[in-house]
Amino acid sequence: MDNNKLKKLVAKEAVTQISDGMIIGLGTGSTMKYVLEYLSDQVKNGLNIYGIPTSENTAKLAKQLEIPLLSFKEVNRLDLAIDGADEVDANFNLIKGGGGALLREKIIADSSKSFIVVIDKTKLVEQLGAFLLPVEIIPFGWEITAQKVESLGGVSTLRNFYNQPYVTDNGNYILDCDFGFIDNPGNLEKNLNSIIGVVDSGLFINMTNKVLVSDEHSIKTLDNIM
Ligand code: 5RP
Repeated sequence: MDNNKLKKLVAKEAVTQISDGMIIGLGTGSTMKYVLEYLSDQVKNGLNIYGIPTSENTAKLAKQLEIPLLSFKEVNRLDLAIDGADEVDANFNLIKGGGGALLREKIIADSSKSFIVVIDKTKLVEQLGAFLLPVEIIPFGWEITAQKVESLGGVSTLRNFYNQPYVTDNGNYILDCDFGFIDNPGNLEKNLNSIIGVVDSGLFINMTNKVLVSDEHSIKTLDNIM
């Protein structure tokens, strides 16, 4: 089964977790595109929810699909956030940010009563780190910030888009970092966040207790007691 089919399967299951009246954090990425499509069908059938998007791309797609949106000017609570991930380890730690939206994704996941991660089985790993870790940094002095990031034991590459630095929705740059397999993701997150110039990393530690995983045969719900 190709990955898109697996993404669609898990997306459909994720939408069953949404109930009337909820305010939902809407993640970013190709799995979330399917979640939005299924959610749009439900909204057209009368489901009454509002979404808060984690990126301009998600906002644009949600508007096209007629999913009603709110912003933090209008709400101070989210019932549920749903998002994809690039890697999930056995302790439910995540690498996110392949799509460049890690900062807003983290703000929204952190503000939600519950955070469900939707992945296909290829994203489940023993140890994080095969996927390059995205780190969002301030453009000013990015070169020196990159050196400080590398002093933690990694190799960093400035993310590019059409031969220019990739710019996030927040006006920042992204370093894609190779730290090898990450022995202590919690420590690395703390060390990265202590560097002036780093805004945040794509390490999501202790943020979710529910991961939906699709494989060829089924959707599994992994629950973690945090
Ligand atoms: C975007 C993300 C995505 O959730 C992550 O990259 C997974 O994307 P996809 O569903 O396309 O595989 O973190 O910043």
